[in-house]
Amino acid sequence: MDRYALIGHPVEHSKSPLIHATFARQTRQELNYQPLLAPLDGFSDTVRMFRAEGGRGANITVPFKIEACSLATRLTERAKLAGAVNTLTFINGDIVGDNTDGIGLVRDLLVNLACPLAGRHVLLLGAGGAARGALFPLFQTKPVSLTIANRTVERAQELRAAFAPHAGQTAFTAGSFKDLGGWEFDVVINATSASLEKQALPLPNNIFAPDAFVYDMMYGAGNTPFLAWAQAAGVTRLSDGLGMLVEQAAESFALWRGVRPKTTLVLNSLRRKLASKG
Ligand code: ATR
Repeated sequence: MDRYALIGHPVEHSKSPLIHATFARQTRQELNYQPLLAPLDGFSDTVRMFRAEGGRGANITVPFKIEACSLATRLTERAKLAGAVNTLTFINGDIVGDNTDGIGLVRDLLVNLACPLAGRHVLLLGAGGAARGALFPLFQTKPVSLTIANRTVERAQELRAAFAPHAGQTAFTAGSFKDLGGWEFDVVINATSASLEKQALPLPNNIFAPDAFVYDMMYGAGNTPFLAWAQAAGVTRLSDGLGMLVEQAAESFALWRGVRPKTTLVLNSLRRKLASKG
């Protein structure tokens, strides 16, 4: 049976094995997908061993996404731009690195949540790995403007400089949270890890256009602190990042197996499980 793995540290609480097992049943693919804990100083050895034992590919999670980028012998354009890899495919002698996180976000917004991006004013909060991974796929949806805002303004400006050649017709700006006063956005995406720390972002609460959509890449049993804040500011259309998790998995599965699984049922079932824990 073809073997795949999720390599990270930690990996035991990941939902990816369940998601991929469901995709495999649904598409009648014979495969085995297991979590694989790599020692913090042993990522490349773990990949090497898994490959030598016949592994066909792997998802990569915290904290190895950047290391996976260096380990890959070939990178897709979007992985190169993201500077991080969440999907490895072992093809003949090559280790091909790709990044499906950003396209997972975009598919969740466009397809699952019916939130168009073309022609809209988009605000991306954060300038770390998660924001970096989202930028190229976001530009491909042709928003009229894309603004990055970050606590450390220099990091937002660095991202702007790196991605400016890929912005196309999109007006692309970067700044700090307080620079946002007086601007309104149709789609606001939180790519910071502030929700993990249960911290609020120091944002003006009048940055939302009428009917704005607010998305948090984090997810949990109830609203994340960021979504709760947006709701208190009057936003009614919101989503956490559970759909992004499922969509990035579907994209990896499609890369490996050449068949795209349907995501609705597994997303609904994960949502029910999360809610019952809340
Ligand atoms: P990731 O890979 O999850 O993006 P990261 O590269 O460490 O992780 O980036 C974390 C992001 O969350 C950064 O944009 C960080 O802001 P700084 O660049 O100023 O550090 C942001 N972040 C984390 N905690 C935050 C908080 N409490 N308030 C505001 N921004 C926060």
